[in-house]
Amino acid sequence: MGLDIVYYKRFRMEINLAGRRFPPAPLPKYYSLQAWDDSLMDIFALTKFNCFRGELDTNVFPSLSTLEGCRQLMTDIAAKPGFLPGATWLAVYSPPGSPAAEYCGTIQGIRDKFGLGAIQNVGISSPHRGRGLGTCLILRCLEGFRRAGIFLAHLEVTAQNERAIELYRRLGFVIVKTIYKTISDDE
Ligand SMILES: CC(C)(COP(=O)(O)OP(=O)(O)OC[C@H]1O[C@@H](n2cnc3c(N)ncnc32)[C@H](O)[C@@H]1OP(=O)(O)O)[C@@H](O)C(=O)NCCC(=O)NCCS
Repeated sequence: MGLDIVYYKRFRMEINLAGRRFPPAPLPKYYSLQAWDDSLMDIFALTKFNCFRGELDTNVFPSLSTLEGCRQLMTDIAAKPGFLPGATWLAVYSPPGSPAAEYCGTIQGIRDKFGLGAIQNVGISSPHRGRGLGTCLILRCLEGFRRAGIFLAHLEVTAQNERAIELYRRLGFVIVKTIYKTISDDE
């Protein structure tokens, strides 16, 4: 019985923030963005879980595939010394007459050990995709980095995730490096 190792090809993408501003993109009707607050930890975890359910990246990061794993990821992110509440947002859908707001997207930002802005996860739940919400969340996060004095932001994306890569390119991110992430079948 051998240990199976799977390799996932990933790209590091970067965007230069120096001398730039990121005005908010218009949100579609009935949507809003909500900033991080410690009391929202569980909502962030649940939203992350919903956004990544059944997606490619649950294979690359098995924690993303369970609610408990998403809770742990969010707890770890929020506990990092470089965690940036101003780059960490939820997308909320609240059409008139609906009994409760629906949390349909999330992004988190941290200042990494090099002083650069690291986007941790961006996700929009599937019924809400293709409406510009991913764009709005990324722009809000980049503006949060910029306000924190950060001049370069980066993220990692799985090479097969063409729609995400296209979105990042459109916003000005460029691929700077290819990374192979290994996952063993006991993870
Ligand atoms: C990547 C992701 C965040 C994009 O969110 P989004 O809200 O759909 O993004 P936007 O609407 O701003 O842009 C998506 C682009 O795909 C296009 N698109 C068309 N149909 C679409 C659909 N059914 N669903 C999603 N995007 C669609 C959009 O038109 C847009 O391109 P355009 O601006 O050139 O028109 C979202 O697809 C997602 O959560 N995927 C699963 C999680 C994931 O892989 N996250 C990335 C981790 S690195």
